Amino acid sequence: MKVRTENGNIDMRAVWFDRGKVMMIDQRELPHKVVVVGFDDYGDVAEAIRNMTTRGAPSIGAAAAYGMCLAALSGFDLDLASKNIKAARPTANDLFFAVDHMYSLLRNGSEPVEAANGYADMIVSKCERIGEYGSQLIKNGMKVMTHCNAGALATVDVGTALAPIRKAWAAGKRFFVYASETRPRLQGMQLTAWELGQEGINHAIIPDGASAYYMEKGVDMIITGADRITANGDFANKIGTFDKAIAAKHFGIPFYVAAPVSTFDFDTMSGEDIIIEQRSEKEVTEMYGMRIAPAGSPALNPAFDVTPAELVTGFITEKGIFGPKDIRKVMDDE
Ligand code: MRU
Repeated sequence: MKVRTENGNIDMRAVWFDRGKVMMIDQRELPHKVVVVGFDDYGDVAEAIRNMTTRGAPSIGAAAAYGMCLAALSGFDLDLASKNIKAARPTANDLFFAVDHMYSLLRNGSEPVEAANGYADMIVSKCERIGEYGSQLIKNGMKVMTHCNAGALATVDVGTALAPIRKAWAAGKRFFVYASETRPRLQGMQLTAWELGQEGINHAIIPDGASAYYMEKGVDMIITGADRITANGDFANKIGTFDKAIAAKHFGIPFYVAAPVSTFDFDTMSGEDIIIEQRSEKEVTEMYGMRIAPAGSPALNPAFDVTPAELVTGFITEKGIFGPKDIRKVMDDE
C-alpha cells in the first residue's frame, strides 16, 4: 500500500518478516502516526492479534503464519503453538486456515520463513485478483459504500472490499466512497478513510447510523469484507454489516462481499454456528481511556454480526464473482 511520508510515497505491507522479527503496522496508532512494531516471540504475535495491533481477517492470518514461523525457528512445540495462536480471536476463519496451512508445511519440512512469506504473498495475489474482478462492477460516477476496514491494512496489501475500489480508481474511473465509521473501534473512520486518503480516492466518513439515509439518496453498490463465510453463503463481518445488508435490500442496492478462499469455511454449515467474538465493554463505554457512558451502565460489545446469504448479491473472490449458491466454485483447483 502507498503510504505518504514527508520524503515521498513509500510502499508498505501491513505485516511482514524482517531479520528474525514479525513486523506490523500498529493499527491502533493510525491515522495519526505510522508506527511499526516487531516481535521475535510467537506468543507476542498472538497477543498482537488479540489486542488488535494488527486486525482484519487476512492480516490476522498472515500474522498467525509468521507466528508459526517464529515458533518453528525457536523449536517450540508446533501443536501447542497452533493452539495458542488459534486462541487469539475466534471469528476470522483466516486465523485457523493460516495456522493449519503452516502446520502442515512445517511438519513436511518447509523452511519456516519461506513458508510464511509464501502465505503472505499468496494472500496478496488473491487480493489483486479480487480487485481485478471487482473493479469491473464499478463505473464512473457511482456512489459506493463500505464498512469497517477491508483494505490493505486488513489483508497484508491491496485489500478485499477496497481492492476493487483501488483498482477502479487506478484505472481512471472516478466515483465516490462512503466509509461508515464503524463504532466502537472506528476502523472505517481511522483506517479505511486513511487508506482512501493515501490514494487520493474521493470519499467521506459517515456515522454508522447514516447508512440508510445515504442509501435512500442514492448509493449504487455496497462492498464489504468478511471474516467467515459458511457453506450456505451466510457470512460474519464487522458489527453493523447486517444492518447495511437489510437496508440495501430495502432500497434494491446490490450488496457484494469480497473475500479470498482463506475466509471460506465449508465445514460450518450456516451462520448460526459462527462463534461471535465478544469484546470488552470498555470499547463501547470509553474513548481514549475516558469513560463517556453514565457510571454504572453496562455495555454489550459483539464484534461481528452474521448476514444471511439471501441478502448477498455476490461474493467477489480470486476465482470470480459468485452468487451465494455457487460459492463452492471458490474451492476449484484448491
Ligand atoms: O475486528 P476486526 O477489525 O479484525 O474486523 C475486521 C472486519 O470485520 C473486516 O471487515 C473483515 O476482517 C474483512 S477484512 C478483509
